[in-house]
Amino acid sequence: MSNADLITRDLRHLWHPCTQMKDHEWLPLVPIRRGEGVWLEDFEGRHYLDAISSWWVNLFGHCNPRIGDRVKRQLDTLEHVILAGFTHAPVVELSERLAAITPAGLNHCFYADNGSSAIEVALKMSFHYWQNRGQRQKRRFVNLANSYHGETLGALAAGDVSLYKDTYGPLLMEMLTVPSPDCYAREPGVSCEEHSRRMFAPMRETLERHADEICAVIVEPLVQCAGYMRMYHPVYLKLLRAACDEFGVHLIADEIAVGFGRTGTLFACEQAGIAPDFLCLSKGLTGGYLPLSVTLTTDEIYSAFYDDYATLRAFLHSHSYTGNPLGCSAALATLDIFAEDDVIGDNRQKAARMAELTAPLADHPHVGDVRQSGMILAIEMVKDKATREPWPWEERRGLTVYRHGLEKGVLLRPLGNVIYFMPPYVISDEEIELMVEVAAEGIELATRG
Ligand SMILES: Cc1ncc(COP(=O)(O)O)c(C=O)c1O
Repeated sequence: MSNADLITRDLRHLWHPCTQMKDHEWLPLVPIRRGEGVWLEDFEGRHYLDAISSWWVNLFGHCNPRIGDRVKRQLDTLEHVILAGFTHAPVVELSERLAAITPAGLNHCFYADNGSSAIEVALKMSFHYWQNRGQRQKRRFVNLANSYHGETLGALAAGDVSLYKDTYGPLLMEMLTVPSPDCYAREPGVSCEEHSRRMFAPMRETLERHADEICAVIVEPLVQCAGYMRMYHPVYLKLLRAACDEFGVHLIADEIAVGFGRTGTLFACEQAGIAPDFLCLSKGLTGGYLPLSVTLTTDEIYSAFYDDYATLRAFLHSHSYTGNPLGCSAALATLDIFAEDDVIGDNRQKAARMAELTAPLADHPHVGDVRQSGMILAIEMVKDKATREPWPWEERRGLTVYRHGLEKGVLLRPLGNVIYFMPPYVISDEEIELMVEVAAEGIELATRG
């Protein structure tokens, strides 16, 4: 098999995610034959460093034997079983361990098979909780500007990235959207903490005014990843938790992208010392091996559904592959790696190396910001450094960086004008150097002229 052969066959029948398929008339697909560690290899022996962990899922490298072996064992034992009325050891052990490692009080795990579905579960559960508690007027949700929670209609409604959302507007429930605490927008001389604190005012005002009709506030803790890797200070989450308690509103923390160590702590909520009412996890949950997601919630919420069948209070939501044993075994192997290795400590050094190597880019005449939260580092290209005027999106300057990356063997996938790194944690110092060097060259190329 050759690259060309696979591309031809692919384009005959596949419709790729998040892609204008016509682009592939001039932008070749990249067929991958195998993966190992941070590296992907095509059919002609060309290698690509996966600097974005294949859409932020991979934590410990491709074909990691510690995860692979566990999945292989599970494959010979039980591949899948219905989770309604039945149960199995991997899902029970995973639930026990997730309840133990997530912020306090999240004792109940509801599984699905992708991030968007975990969001749908949280939204429906929150709404249904208030229905079961007799507060039937509570039917609205609050989100942050520039947030992203997935692509299914409920999750899409809960987000605010216009590129993905606007077309489907007529199909989506209406949110109460408040400004983001995003620190990129702060005035010169204002600290990130102060900015995020100030930006809490409109959130508080919205809660004060609409508490009676609000089910929950949904946020991505610390980093709005698909929203161009915009970051904010943990103080916002602290204020939000307190206000949600004060006004009787749930807090949904979407840690689908930032969970499992990405921001420097196992969960981003830890940096604010808070526990949400719902915690959504996916992506890194299985180390990037298999599709699995979970929505964790509290005893209080669980108890509002726990009643005689005839009260019709049960949460009658399901997905065929809920709690799939193979996915759960990959997740257990992932949690073993966190338990056995000092992942968070080692990442601190890698994050520091990423910071050190990218620091000079802050002086680049077309870089408006270099920001970082743990193992996520983003570089914002701008047309005008003084005013931070962005390059027009139609110029697709990020694509120049993407193409340069492929040419030099690094998979970067800029979000508009934002180049970012979110590599697997097994990346070495030399690989970090290569990743940054190639990105810097790409930025130089993309910002010329
Ligand atoms: C914060 C966040 N929430 C939800 C999702 C949706 O997850 P999925 O793509 O698995 O549906 C994503 C995906 O990128 C995400 O970043």
